[in-house]
Amino acid sequence: MEIKNYTAPSLIFSNNKIQRKVEYFKHNLELADKAEMLKVLDTVFLTTGTVTKQFETAFAEYIGTHYAVGVMSCTHALELCLRYFNIGPGDEVITTPLSYVATANAIESVGAKPVFVDVAWETANIDVSKIEAVITTKTKAILPVHLYGQMCNMRSIQKIAAAYNLKVIEDAAHCIEGEFEGKKIGSFSDAACVSFYATKNITSGEGGAIVTNNEEMNSWLLQARSHGISSSAADRYTKKYQHYDMEFLGMKCNMSNMQASLLIHQLQRINILHARRKKLFEQYEQLLSVYEQPRFVSGSTHAYHLYSIWVKNRDQILENLYDRGIGAAVHYRPAHVMTYYKNKYNYKKGDFPIAEYIGDTTISLPLYPLLLEEEVEYVCNTLNDIL
Ligand SMILES: Cc1ncc(COP(=O)(O)O)c(C=O)c1O
Repeated sequence: MEIKNYTAPSLIFSNNKIQRKVEYFKHNLELADKAEMLKVLDTVFLTTGTVTKQFETAFAEYIGTHYAVGVMSCTHALELCLRYFNIGPGDEVITTPLSYVATANAIESVGAKPVFVDVAWETANIDVSKIEAVITTKTKAILPVHLYGQMCNMRSIQKIAAAYNLKVIEDAAHCIEGEFEGKKIGSFSDAACVSFYATKNITSGEGGAIVTNNEEMNSWLLQARSHGISSSAADRYTKKYQHYDMEFLGMKCNMSNMQASLLIHQLQRINILHARRKKLFEQYEQLLSVYEQPRFVSGSTHAYHLYSIWVKNRDQILENLYDRGIGAAVHYRPAHVMTYYKNKYNYKKGDFPIAEYIGDTTISLPLYPLLLEEEVEYVCNTLNDIL
């Protein structure tokens, strides 16, 4: 199988010149994905049903966990996991400030407090050596984020969690294909949450999933993603009508057959997509080795979700790249500099200096299977020229 849909480079007229345009991201949905969705559209059952189940089974098998539960987003997935472990008001959850706000927001949404630990220079992931210092009697869980697709040191995190009786919930939005000591997400934790958002490694536009080996948690999640009611719409549709009960207060975030249909074939070609991004990532590394960037941890497999470098005058460079037709993004300005968190917890500049430094300098360059080698070269030459 090979990656189809290579597109000819597009051009723009900018700075009085014809220039190449390189999109920050392009999805690679193929005919098979679209056909699978059309099949669903030709049935009466658009919401959660057999196609969702088919994807969940295949996804759990790919990850290597017993269970996968499809939901509407990784944000919902994180919140559901926290709710399952009864984490709420008065509780604390340790996490990184250098993530998309969804990570801390999920903790806030259940009424608990996100307790930030600065990141490590080498990886931009949570600095595991600083976790124990912030553990209190209120701490209930550690929520590590595998930033850009590089897994945290899950062995050490698991050890700390075991010593203090804490839950571990992974934010693996960037890390579907990543591995630590040869194991994927969900192996060193209670559960891991992934995202199928529009720019993720496989996508249904919006979507997410929880993977776990915990049977009881799986049953609870299946019920909790549909309000906590005791039978699903599919059960009521396919079997004789039965009244349902609502046994606990859940959420409404079930993955539909339509979303699942888009993911089934992408999952089948996930290794090809991963290999293609790896190749482009390595090309960037070769061409941009002079710039500061997160380092690889030996013994782990990168998911190659984002390629980021750290540059001075980042905002000006972003603007210059856009002027020259190159899409780029920022992952991330840390959560504690956002107005909501700054005001609520009185954070100030210097509280998490490494996350702040990266937040001020980081720039993510285009990285997706349909990107062409000559486009990577063009991005690197343009960047070197600007700098
Ligand atoms: C690290 C991280 N965590 C969580 C999320 C939230 O994912 P979703 O948009 O599926 O809710 C994202 C999304 O971009 C993310 O990058």
